[in-house]
Amino acid sequence: MATKRISTKKKAGNAKGAGALMIDIGISANERAKIAKGLSKLLADSYALYLMTHNFHWNVTGPQFNSLHQMFMAQYTEQWTALDLIAERIRALGHPAPGTYQEFEKLASVKQVEGVPSATEMVRYLVKAQEATAKTARSLFPVVGEANDQPTADLLTQRLEVHEKTAWMLRSVLED
Ligand SMILES: [Fe+2]
Repeated sequence: MATKRISTKKKAGNAKGAGALMIDIGISANERAKIAKGLSKLLADSYALYLMTHNFHWNVTGPQFNSLHQMFMAQYTEQWTALDLIAERIRALGHPAPGTYQEFEKLASVKQVEGVPSATEMVRYLVKAQEATAKTARSLFPVVGEANDQPTADLLTQRLEVHEKTAWMLRSVLED
């Protein structure tokens, strides 16, 4: 049976159902919308990075199998936990978090890899995906700073630290 996607278009950030209260946290609706939009891109890249890392954990082969299989597991486990923190920050700012493959595909700068690359190629793809996710996170700082949004700045700082450190570790695998 064919599955059909259901569209439920609701104006984001303006919940007016019975009992809904306007958000009043000292960040304007306009700024909350801009930050949520940026965080949605970060969530999409984070999900794409998570999926790529888990895929490579399953499919890596070669003399470095054991170390890469374990390394990728540590990375995708950390990445999986981060998805929830990013999505819930979007919710706290009053916007719906993207949560479908269609939305992630549209929003992500990180694209999935076709087929099964060699172990070395996998590491190269992951370095690029870690760096791309770091760049998406970093690009949000101007709007977050302007809005005085410390919780988002804190989250972004933590994500940047992880992506930059992981990219360094992966790059080190490629060196002689
Ligand atoms: Fe596993």
